[in-house]
Amino acid sequence: MTQITLPRPDDWHLHLRDGAMLEAVLPESARHFARAIIMPNLVPPVVTGAQAAAYRERILAALPAGMRFTPLMTLYLTEETDPADVAAAAAAGIVTAVKLYPAGATTNSASGVRDFDKVRGVLEKMAEIGLPLCVHGEVTDPAVDIFDREAVFIDRVLDPVRRATPGLRVVMEHITTKDGVDYVRSQSDDLGATITTHHLIINRNHILVGGIKPHYYCLPVAKRESHRLALVEAATSGEARFFLGTDSAPHADPAKESPCGCAGCFTATNTMPLLAHVFEAEGRLANLEAFAARNGPAFYRLPVNDEMLTLEKTDTAAQWPAKIFGGAGPVTVFDPGFPVYWHVKP
Ligand code: DOR
Ligand code: ZN
Repeated sequence: MTQITLPRPDDWHLHLRDGAMLEAVLPESARHFARAIIMPNLVPPVVTGAQAAAYRERILAALPAGMRFTPLMTLYLTEETDPADVAAAAAAGIVTAVKLYPAGATTNSASGVRDFDKVRGVLEKMAEIGLPLCVHGEVTDPAVDIFDREAVFIDRVLDPVRRATPGLRVVMEHITTKDGVDYVRSQSDDLGATITTHHLIINRNHILVGGIKPHYYCLPVAKRESHRLALVEAATSGEARFFLGTDSAPHADPAKESPCGCAGCFTATNTMPLLAHVFEAEGRLANLEAFAARNGPAFYRLPVNDEMLTLEKTDTAAQWPAKIFGGAGPVTVFDPGFPVYWHVKP
């Protein structure tokens, strides 16, 4: 197969930031994706319905003329979040999900949750109204090795929270382990999982062998190869639980190439060609449609996009810019480290 046409894909986990960075990166997502779940970890975070509505307006204002893109907004869950505000924002169509960051787990997560008892009321309200909870699934306990933090989170936090809140619909975001894949498969279909582009391509050796590669550092950090293979198997399986969330997370190069570099891989630009490459290599190109265009809408109870997107394989390696330039400084585009012959047809 040298060509594949699918409904326009969506990105179920995206960081767009704000201001100059938003302006620089938004076209990179809007070029291929119809909709995206927009992460609320701005500084300060998006914690109220009013803030989410204002952020959505800023995103739409930054969209270049002629591009169509629907931002699906999220609220950043804090121990002070008001269940009534969440319910009102959901009812008004302002928010599509609520995001849970364990405090300190990742970029701008300081206002996240420490004591899960304090968010019980919000979670119960969300279960009642069917509003999904997007979860950054890593414990922050300094005693837990960074490579084990996802697996430990499942046992210590995710499973107890789900048991305590029957009916809560949860997306385990950017899973990076076989433990995550197995847990999702073992549960009822109110649990889904997103998988990023980069976690399908890199393992921890790519970050550390032959010199440290700051542009491959993200959170959750890439794990050993056996975990990457489990993610590839899950993503390409076509199973409804697994869908694309790129976690494309721009940071200007000086913030990445630093003695204390920020976490995040920027994949908005080249995700679709990269996915076509990965799915083809598995002999499962036909399942790209499920992963990138059908399973996410099904979980979020939204229609599949009407417009279509065509990918074509040619003899010429795909060219994308090495960096995106904008007022916030250069942002390096994720480099898979191998040539890719798939192109999105303009
Ligand atoms: O790598 C990451 N970057 N992981 C996250 O969870 C946050 C994100 C960011 O905001 O930069
Ligand atoms: Zn993220």
